[in-house]
Amino acid sequence: MHVAVLGSEEEIGKVAADRVAKVLKAKPNAVIGLATGSSPLPLYQDLIRQYQAGEISFAKAQAFCLDEYVGLDPDHPEAYRNFIKRVFTSQVDFPQGAVNAPQGAAADPVWAADEYDAQIRAAGGVDIQVLGIGSDGHIGFNEPGGSLTSRTHVDFLTDQTRRDNARFFEGNIDQVPTACITQGLGTIMEARELIMVVTGAGKADAVRELVQGPVSAQWPATIMQFHNRAVVLLDEAAASKLSDREHIQDAWEGFQRLEGN
Ligand code: F6R
Repeated sequence: MHVAVLGSEEEIGKVAADRVAKVLKAKPNAVIGLATGSSPLPLYQDLIRQYQAGEISFAKAQAFCLDEYVGLDPDHPEAYRNFIKRVFTSQVDFPQGAVNAPQGAAADPVWAADEYDAQIRAAGGVDIQVLGIGSDGHIGFNEPGGSLTSRTHVDFLTDQTRRDNARFFEGNIDQVPTACITQGLGTIMEARELIMVVTGAGKADAVRELVQGPVSAQWPATIMQFHNRAVVLLDEAAASKLSDREHIQDAWEGFQRLEGN
């Protein structure tokens, strides 16, 4: 895992967006995996800027969201398919129908999860997957205690995640759905490249486990230690519980040189 501690959310967004843009320039029909939530917003802002500047185009690309709530009205503004459209995909040139999300409102969510996994495979798999991390260590909505090799499935949100996400639901945890469909850890790990963005002290424990803890289903993101092309971008607060900071910095600088940045 390549880990960087950067100076601001904007810098994290820029470095992450450049990684997505690089994939897109090399492969215009790339399949991009999208996380929702707050962390990737500066990344999406920078991709919108690059699109508006004529530097990149999504005209041949496809996208797959990581997850979706189960039990929300499909028109609810916080349904992830609506959220991602609002903050990112409607502001660039994805073709009609190219942005996918699990069908959280399907009558049979278990079927919908299997179907979504098959759709990702049929698209040739994800070229670059954007990730955030939950304060309890989830990626996608793979909550602690699940299978480290899971496929897209129905999962159940922890109270911690529902508390964290209440800010999107008028601060009312009771409005936060209890279930979701999420790409599984096995599905996420098949992406050819992972780019994670993390900010804030609330994520410091999860980041310590992710970067320096043992791989464990109790901290699902730790599965990323098995990925050979995973980049994790942190701000100072999110990195505050890491040790060996000097080595982390040296290794990042070395990786940057190798990549020609
Ligand atoms: C959302 C997702 C989640 C979030 C995580 C962090 O699609 O997959 O894993 O990335 O809950 O959310 P924020 O960025 O809002 O702190």
